[in-house]
Amino acid sequence: MEYSKELLNLGELVYELLSEALGVDSDYLKDMDCAKSQFIVGQYYPPCPQPDLAIGINKHTDSSFITILLQDNIGGLQVLYDSQYWVDVSPIPGALVINIGDLLQKKREEKNRAEEAMESIDSSSQAKAFDETQIGVKGLVDSGIKEIPEMFRATQATLASFKSPPPPKHLTIPTIDLKGGSVVEKIRGAAERWGLFQVVNHGIPVEVLDRMIQGMRSFHEQEPEAKKRFYSRDHTRDVIYYSNFDLYNSESASWRDTLGCYTAPEPPLLEDLPSVCGEVILEYSKEIMNLGELLFERLSEALGLDSHHLKDMGCAKSQYVAGQYYPPCPQPDLTIGLNKHTDISFITILLQDNIGGLQVLYDGQYWVDVTPVPGALVINIGDFLQLISNDKFKSAEHRVIANGSSEPRTSVVSVFSTFMRASSRVYGPIKNLVSKENPAKYRDFTLTEFSTIFGSKKIDTPKLHHFRI
Ligand SMILES: [Fe+2]
Repeated sequence: MEYSKELLNLGELVYELLSEALGVDSDYLKDMDCAKSQFIVGQYYPPCPQPDLAIGINKHTDSSFITILLQDNIGGLQVLYDSQYWVDVSPIPGALVINIGDLLQKKREEKNRAEEAMESIDSSSQAKAFDETQIGVKGLVDSGIKEIPEMFRATQATLASFKSPPPPKHLTIPTIDLKGGSVVEKIRGAAERWGLFQVVNHGIPVEVLDRMIQGMRSFHEQEPEAKKRFYSRDHTRDVIYYSNFDLYNSESASWRDTLGCYTAPEPPLLEDLPSVCGEVILEYSKEIMNLGELLFERLSEALGLDSHHLKDMGCAKSQYVAGQYYPPCPQPDLTIGLNKHTDISFITILLQDNIGGLQVLYDGQYWVDVTPVPGALVINIGDFLQLISNDKFKSAEHRVIANGSSEPRTSVVSVFSTFMRASSRVYGPIKNLVSKENPAKYRDFTLTEFSTIFGSKKIDTPKLHHFRI
């Protein structure tokens, strides 16, 4: 009687401390009657003649909010740490052992779930309101905001990843001269190690590149009314303008707007494109188709295949062009330009201006800047090529930091894929690249299957594992 009365007092104190540790009012758990009931058990473990063949109590968790244990000096209690190590709870004279029971874990989970629900209600209604304005991030900046809205605040995990150690100085993105020597070997090395490289001497006049950047920039810098005509979330439409592909799926929005259009195999009609950039989009995407064909030839050879192999598989057939606009951000340390992801493409050709901000993950540990090289284009391997090459080539994980400069950043992404449009074409690891020693790592898939997954997840969710055998 005496001991249990003392324990009730101690229990009240522990619940107060646990409430504070949960970040709630100190009476929170007591008010939920967690401290009200108590059941005392006296355990007696007689000496065992064959202790290696029996146990004192099998592993378990307690069906309590908390349990307070008083033990003598014999020892024997162990607790599982991190699901892997059984650690002795060595007796400390005069100490009591407190352990969290199932009911308290449940309360904590309920609280977390409620908080998450509140946050998602809050951010999804903010996202909806933002979406309905159709003004994009550029519109927010033009409104003169000094602080980014809550929905753009990146998660702690994302922000922490931006503080990871810088890469060693010798790690720089390969730049390959397409008219130079050993092109196939260089592409093979870059595609295997980086999944991303820059190309120069690619045959597209710099003047066309400049006009393309300028055209996309002009689109985004028009009056909102001129852009709203294209605003949509139907990603199968020929031409759309939107902000944040995964606005309703992601935990936080990115500081970026996009104009996207399908340019191959059927280019859009000039009159269906925005007048400020329509002509240059058609001209540029034609040039990119030619460069894409050349790159797929070299990539085929780099895989040890006939130079037409990837083209014959239809890898160079479809193209989707996206003009990304990253307005200057008033709080670039709190948000991102584009969350980390791999591309839904065979390859992607990226044209960027001189602002910078693109980074690629090297060796799963270092985020390396893809520093703009005047006149160069960035090539990155997408998920489809990683899959059909049976992991020989690596789909590059990349991201864009929020634009902290006073100038906007503009880039043009040409994705070799049917993107979000249906395609029943089946792909799988190329037969010539699999063998008994190197069996297929992926099952066959249709592009539609991939794009359905892509469209339903936040952008930083890995997709390839869905197809892994
Ligand atoms: Fe990308």
